[in-house]
Amino acid sequence: MEQIKELESARLHLRPWRDTDLAEFAAMCADPQVMRYFPAPLSRLESAALIGRVRGHFAEYGYGVWALERKDTGAFIGFTGLMNVSFEAPFTPAVEIAWRLAPEHWGLGYASEAAWAVLRCAFDRLALDQVVSFTSELNLPSQKVMQAIGMQHDVDGDFEHPLLPAGDPLRPHVLYRITRAQWLETLYG
Ligand SMILES: CC(C)(COP(=O)(O)OP(=O)(O)OC[C@H]1O[C@@H](n2cnc3c(N)ncnc32)[C@H](O)[C@@H]1OP(=O)(O)O)[C@@H](O)C(=O)NCCC(=O)NCCS
Repeated sequence: MEQIKELESARLHLRPWRDTDLAEFAAMCADPQVMRYFPAPLSRLESAALIGRVRGHFAEYGYGVWALERKDTGAFIGFTGLMNVSFEAPFTPAVEIAWRLAPEHWGLGYASEAAWAVLRCAFDRLALDQVVSFTSELNLPSQKVMQAIGMQHDVDGDFEHPLLPAGDPLRPHVLYRITRAQWLETLYG
């Protein structure tokens, strides 16, 4: 199995996680603004455990969510990458594209830029047929990234997140998809 250690875009390195990322990663995941569309901010221990699970995903499947580093400053700014969906739903098994950035790096196009590099990897190197993405229907910034990279809203695929309790306002989720053919169409018309 090919281990995809790093990717690159114009302004970013998508690289393996370092132990020294924990401080900034934990600060990002403890920020209520960043975690507004998740059940709760994460403690430092939960963030450390998440990095452990990410490393485990890379070890098992060869891909995962990469740490994002700005080329101009060398700063760690968050993550973007691919994960096997960990719960059962009508659209699973599936590979999900996901992103989370620290707020001081929002509004600069970094999430979309990283996501383009990740989609290229998914279709060119990993030869996946399809990638999905989902988020709370309230999370419009994330849906904008999905739209920016050519993903299509699968209205019939919208679902109630099975790991959130009934009645939770975050439970209704939108489902977006992109196939390899749609990605090629977006790139080359
Ligand atoms: C979702 C999230 C990654 C989006 O970040 P973002 O910075 O808004 O997304 P993008 O990288 O696509 O940037 C787009 C914005 O940058 C602007 N921009 C500036 N320079 C740009 C450039 N060179 N290229 C593209 N966009 C640029 C765009 O105009 C756009 O701004 P707008 O939203 O005001 O229209 C961010 O809000 C986040 O981390 N949220 C918390 C975690 C989360 O909810 N993750 C998703 C869970 S499913």
